[in-house]
Amino acid sequence: MPPKLLSPLFPWLILLTLLLVYFYSSILHFQKPSSPISPSKAIPSSSSCNFFRGHWVLDPKHKPLYDETCPFHRNAWNCLRNNRDNIGLINSWKWVPQSCDLPRINPFQILSLMRNKNIGFVGDSLNENFLVSFLCILRVADKGAKKWKKKGAWRGAYFPNFNVTVAYHRAVLLAKYEWQQKEPEHGDQDGLKGRYRVDVDVPADEWTSISDFYDVLVFNTGHWWGYDKFPEETPLVFYQEGRPIVPSLGMLDGLKVVLKNMISIIQNEVPGKTIKFWRLQSPRHFHGGEWNQNGSCLFDKPLKRSELDSWFAPSNNGVNKEARLLNLLIEEALQGTEIQLLDLTHLSEFRADAHPAIWLGKKDAVAIWGQDCMHWCLPGVPDTWVDIFSALIRNILERG
Ligand SMILES: *[C@@H]1O[C@H](CO)[C@@H](O)[C@H](O)[C@H]1NC(C)=O
Ligand SMILES: *[C@@H]1O[C@H](CO)[C@@H](O)[C@H](O)[C@H]1NC(C)=O
Repeated sequence: MPPKLLSPLFPWLILLTLLLVYFYSSILHFQKPSSPISPSKAIPSSSSCNFFRGHWVLDPKHKPLYDETCPFHRNAWNCLRNNRDNIGLINSWKWVPQSCDLPRINPFQILSLMRNKNIGFVGDSLNENFLVSFLCILRVADKGAKKWKKKGAWRGAYFPNFNVTVAYHRAVLLAKYEWQQKEPEHGDQDGLKGRYRVDVDVPADEWTSISDFYDVLVFNTGHWWGYDKFPEETPLVFYQEGRPIVPSLGMLDGLKVVLKNMISIIQNEVPGKTIKFWRLQSPRHFHGGEWNQNGSCLFDKPLKRSELDSWFAPSNNGVNKEARLLNLLIEEALQGTEIQLLDLTHLSEFRADAHPAIWLGKKDAVAIWGQDCMHWCLPGVPDTWVDIFSALIRNILERG
């Protein structure tokens, strides 16, 4: 291995070498144009590699690290137990970043690196989906893992051999919000049933007292900022410093103010030594209609790159456009902060094939809730999120 401190030219030399090798190999029509001959393995877990851009490659040797018996599963996402069609195939796709290899997580190594430390997830059920994958993978290295739900956590585990806790705090809007029943004397001409008061400058109780406990935190919000969660008869109403914001804000303007406030709280109140991430939107794949309009995701392979824009570009006004729209707001709000982006959106956009769909493990679930084209099968795509997340943690801690 080369010494740690190299001239700033070194990465450019590597790049140049890569380009030359690539050029050379394409002239010679090598059978395998991608990784095997590239010297990228010699780069010590390169922090310059962009794990978020790349493509999926079918690799039958790629196998999940856990199965349906993991005690941390949530039933509706346990696609192995629910006998989802193609679950073997879903997990045979491997994410290959453009200019480097994505190392698979080594759960022993990550738990050893994190010894006496804790990792927290804060946000909505897509962060819970992420957490469950992480817990099932880490448990491979510590079968004594026990369920853990303290300090306001919704779901989590303690890994006794390493004294590591990993948990999820449910706070779907990040800010505090509460239901306010409409008072009867107000009549019901306006069609309102009540409203949800959102205090844009107050974090949800579930994560107010955790900032000293975790050494790594992963935030997200996004899936609840829609009119399906908060329709006109039960809208969000935004408050600041305890008073209603006037004129009242629409949902996306409300989100902007909440992001600004929550990010400033994270910046100011979570200790500087805590490693902070923000996970960008997890895309949905409802085809042919919204979730409550028979929207479906019965696909047997990932989308092609050329199909992504027609699914997700906001200008096409498709059913699933909100992921990229919300990402724009979130990225803008995060600019200039020390919070690192986990931009898992693009790699997930391909995976229309990897949601639980109709295999929800419960009779009538589809009739009542529709297909689930939002959460992910486990094992599945979030395992790749975990690979990237742990590679980034490793880069940071080993650089130390
Ligand atoms: C376990 O980790 C916590 C920090 O999360 C630390 O305070 C405690 O001393 C550790 N316990 C042992 C037995 O090392
Ligand atoms: C969904 O499908 C069912 C059964 O095919 C049908 O009765 C219903 O009208 C459809 N709903 C919508 C919103 O298309």
